Amino acid sequence: MKTRYVFVFMLVGSTAWANSPQQILDLLVQEARQVQPGFTASATRGEQFYRAKHTGGKEADSCASCHTDNPKAEGKHIKTHKAIEPLAPSVNKQRFTDPAQVEKWFRRNCREVLGRVCTPQEKADFAAYVLSVK
Ligand code: HEC
Repeated sequence: MKTRYVFVFMLVGSTAWANSPQQILDLLVQEARQVQPGFTASATRGEQFYRAKHTGGKEADSCASCHTDNPKAEGKHIKTHKAIEPLAPSVNKQRFTDPAQVEKWFRRNCREVLGRVCTPQEKADFAAYVLSVK
């Protein structure tokens, strides 16, 4: 019984942690380097992007509109008023662990805020910022 429990735990554990936030950030940086060789992600640029008022989107004008000024705080969807779990992996272990999930929400939220997809550089900077918030 005990051994079986440990085995199941390891299986679940290894799937859930297939990607760490750092690995996802590394992936995003690699993608950015394909369009801009030598690119390094900047948490400072990422924070500016996170807080900036953008134009072009229909739903909101900044990432902070739904995710609040603090990535460690619980957010709130400005239209549906539904709660959004914090974005920062330092307080929310689910975040930046599933590349498909990350891509899906980047695509959707960037369209809503900027009216276009985010560039690979913007995504890497954004992730660098959110991961840096301890
Ligand atoms: C209109 C509200 C809204 C705005 C504005 C918004 N988001 Fe989000 N975001 C969401 C929701 C809803 C989720 C997913 C809910 C959940 O997973 O709890 C989410 C999740 C994410 C995730 C998923 C992270 C993960 O690993 O789970 C990323 C990345 C993200 N948003 C990036 C952005 C960026 C970049 C911007 C600004 C360009 C932005 N968001 C603006 C509502 C918003």
